[in-house]
Amino acid sequence: MIPTLEWLPNGVNFLDQTKLPLEETYVLATDYQQVATVIRDMIVRGAPAIGVSAAMGVALGVSQSKATSIEALNAEVATIGDTLAATRPTAVNLFWAIERMRDKYNALATAGTPIPEIKAALIKEAQQMYDEDIAACKAMGAHGAPLLPQEGTVLTHCNAGALATCGYGTALGVIRAAVERGHKIDVYADETRPYLQGARLTAWELLHDNIPTTVLCDNMAGSLMRQGKIHAVIVGADRIAANGDTANKIGTYSVAVLAKEHGIPFYVAAPLSTIDLQTATGDDIPIEQRSATEVTHSNGKQMTPNGAAIQNPAFDATPAKYITAIITEHGILRTPYEQSIRDMFDKAAAK
Ligand code: MRU
Repeated sequence: MIPTLEWLPNGVNFLDQTKLPLEETYVLATDYQQVATVIRDMIVRGAPAIGVSAAMGVALGVSQSKATSIEALNAEVATIGDTLAATRPTAVNLFWAIERMRDKYNALATAGTPIPEIKAALIKEAQQMYDEDIAACKAMGAHGAPLLPQEGTVLTHCNAGALATCGYGTALGVIRAAVERGHKIDVYADETRPYLQGARLTAWELLHDNIPTTVLCDNMAGSLMRQGKIHAVIVGADRIAANGDTANKIGTYSVAVLAKEHGIPFYVAAPLSTIDLQTATGDDIPIEQRSATEVTHSNGKQMTPNGAAIQNPAFDATPAKYITAIITEHGILRTPYEQSIRDMFDKAAAK
């Protein structure tokens, strides 16, 4: 399996996604501040992966604390969580993971657990989140595979694969699961300007698994859909609002509208940790604005004239009405999403 991130005795090791596909190198973060930098600089990216990275950052920070009293440790845990939470604003998995680690810490601290035991328990919790993430991807694959064509082409946008998770992937996990079950699938990967997650990462990881992949410029999908050359679309998500509206990489909305116009199913694959019941609609999802140089420059070369105004929102929100189904680790959600999402959380809580 592609080693996206890994807990090691001396820190957290990350496959450097800024260097792919040309170089397979690793960055070892040896303290929580470095984990925050790795997330902010997109050495690791993708909603589930940054969630588990942040959990490991909390575990690393607490395990290295020199605090001798629980009061001092409480203050450090707050600082560690806030530092990691300030890295990227859109993917809710980041906040979900930090909260889960803080909840675990608070329960242990309140129960009077000795500090060395708290440290060990937090490391274990982060490692468990890593394992759960892979299991969730496999479960999404099993639920979602039957939705994909037995034979045909599937379009994806950005990278929602092993590289965006602890392994296997969400949207690409569903494709992997379908291929493992004998579907003959050719993938079209949108290049995903400006950061090129599709061209650099999705193509790299699917070819790694011998899944036939064609890279498209972002403006080609409509024409191919019109020619009947795309049979389904599947993408990941950074945050799904309580009504099913879904934030994902910028450009996802356009693909969803095109798919609807051409009668092509549009699927979102995401774990329940990506669904934010506190956020009512897509309009309420905070959208990260990234540096203008990602747009003005390509491979270090300036592509736009000096003085051109630049927009660089990293994500957009796709209204639920464009989404045929949301594939989760607990099963498939369909419209009306307010209801099916609530029911799915109840079902998951009852397990
Ligand atoms: O900016 P990125 O590369 O972190 O954006 C990633 C995406 O938009 C993915 O599609 C999303 O996080 C789902 S990953 C399983």
